[in-house]
Amino acid sequence: MNMIEIERALRELRLSGIAETLSTRVMQAQAAQQPFLETFAAMLQDELDRRRSRLTERRFKRSGLDERLSLADFDWRFNPKLPRSACFDLHTLKFIGEGANALIIGKPGTGKSHVAKAVAYQATLQGYDVRYLEADTEFARYALASTAERTELLKDWVAPDLLILDDLFLARRISEHAAEVLQAIVHQRYKLRRAIVITSNRVVQDWGKYLGDATMASTILDRLMHRCAMLEFEGKSYRLKEAAARIAITPESS
Ligand SMILES: Nc1ncnc2c1ncn2[C@@H]1O[C@H](COP(=O)(O)OP(=O)(O)O)[C@@H](O)[C@H]1O
Ligand SMILES: [Mg+2]
Repeated sequence: MNMIEIERALRELRLSGIAETLSTRVMQAQAAQQPFLETFAAMLQDELDRRRSRLTERRFKRSGLDERLSLADFDWRFNPKLPRSACFDLHTLKFIGEGANALIIGKPGTGKSHVAKAVAYQATLQGYDVRYLEADTEFARYALASTAERTELLKDWVAPDLLILDDLFLARRISEHAAEVLQAIVHQRYKLRRAIVITSNRVVQDWGKYLGDATMASTILDRLMHRCAMLEFEGKSYRLKEAAARIAITPESS
């Protein structure tokens, strides 16, 4: 086989990681007079690396996350009262294996979504199937969907290892259909021991009001809180700090 035929064979065998680096590895082997096994191992590693990064990319896409956030760029000095060690506990992802939940409740702009997204992203990197939902938007979409579409949506929200419901009750009252699907999600995931992380500006005592049904709220909370970390985010808004910084650096218009 000549080089072109080798490359064609590699593509046919779906070894595109090897195909991509082959010419480099050939040069390297010639330059270093490297033993065959060393070159072969490097080529296998190229294939493995390529497959792993593809899988990670696919998991990230499926998660619905819009950004790759981490706790590395989180400023813990800004709001010193945040439950830092509980956040890092979540970041270990142990709660996913335990089928436990987390409720992150508190003031706007304090980093609730940031922490939830960082945990979700870490989970995609570790091979978990994750679904991130902006709760109000997705529940409104559910309410407008056909019966067949609703079945599909519910399946998609029950199946993953980790479900994030971000900003639940952002718009206060949610529709009857939204309340029903929230109940279905929590009940089904509870039975299957699958983890949920919820962020909200609304304290749980008020959930009955936003669901329009106190009994439903208590059956939902009952299951959520059975195995659950409660994280309270008290402090000032980082968004306001960023806005203030922008104003400060904007030159005065004349
Ligand atoms: N302590 C912090 N350090 C760094 N960035 C932060 C911090 N808290 C919040 N942010 C950033 O401020 C913005 C608002 O935070 P977010 O997590 O959306 O707040 P919340 O969901 O609590 O309303 C985001 O861009 C987030 O990355
Ligand atoms: Mg948020």
